[in-house]
Amino acid sequence: MINKNEDNIDFGYKVVKKTDKQKLINKVFDSVASKYDLMNDITSFGIHRNWKNDLINWLSPQQTQNLADIAGGTGDIAQKFLLAGGNSAHVFDINNEMIQVGQEKYKNLKNLKWTNASAENLPVDDNLFERATMSFGLRNITNRKKSLHEIFRILKPGGRFICLEFNRVENDIFRRLYDFWSFNIVPEIGEKITGNKEAYTYLVESIRKFPNQAELSLMFADVGFSRVKYRNLSNGLVSLHSGWKL
Ligand SMILES: C[S@@+](CC[C@H](N)C(=O)[O-])C[C@H]1O[C@@H](n2cnc3c(N)ncnc32)[C@H](O)[C@@H]1O
Repeated sequence: MINKNEDNIDFGYKVVKKTDKQKLINKVFDSVASKYDLMNDITSFGIHRNWKNDLINWLSPQQTQNLADIAGGTGDIAQKFLLAGGNSAHVFDINNEMIQVGQEKYKNLKNLKWTNASAENLPVDDNLFERATMSFGLRNITNRKKSLHEIFRILKPGGRFICLEFNRVENDIFRRLYDFWSFNIVPEIGEKITGNKEAYTYLVESIRKFPNQAELSLMFADVGFSRVKYRNLSNGLVSLHSGWKL
């Protein structure tokens, strides 16, 4: 058994070596990539599309703005940003399988670029993008503080970052229903559709280990973001956190 100390980290409810976490995360997304979008639609009843639209509405893309979508996976946020009037979008993701699914899905979209890179070490210059986003990514990242620093670094002064993540449901009854659905049903659907029950067990557990709304706001402020605000969606099941580089 691995003990909790500074060399270790949560992987869902398990504790693993920090140096192993990224490999385990990559395995999860390697195995679900081809069914990732379908699983999102089934397990959220399609509501993940509304949450992503809410992110884009709050971001309010302009023709003068270029987006870095970090841990962008199969590219939904980047696509929505472009359709809403943004100038260009650059998806960064550590997983090639996820990128390939996205590239195929959005092959006709112009001004969309893809780079295989870790959020902890973005291979771009400082002060480059007007906007940055991360949707359901931060929870999976080993060194979250480092990746938030990286996002801050690549934003231009005056730039804005919005993060969409699962968070804490406020209503007790809704939380019980949601817990039942996510712990008992989601892994079974994951097994049937992707053949990987453990991947969806991890994803569900990782939500419960993630910092709550107030803690995440503090993490934003700690790396230098100003005017940090958050909005709960679906009773806090997910939240949007916004911060500015001023
Ligand atoms: C739950 S998916 C979210 C995908 C997409 N943003 C969305 O909202 O549908 C999480 C993504 O984070 C990526 N990821 C995990 N660790 C990462 C890291 N260190 N750097 C960049 N991407 C990472 C995974 O490869 C995966 O594509």
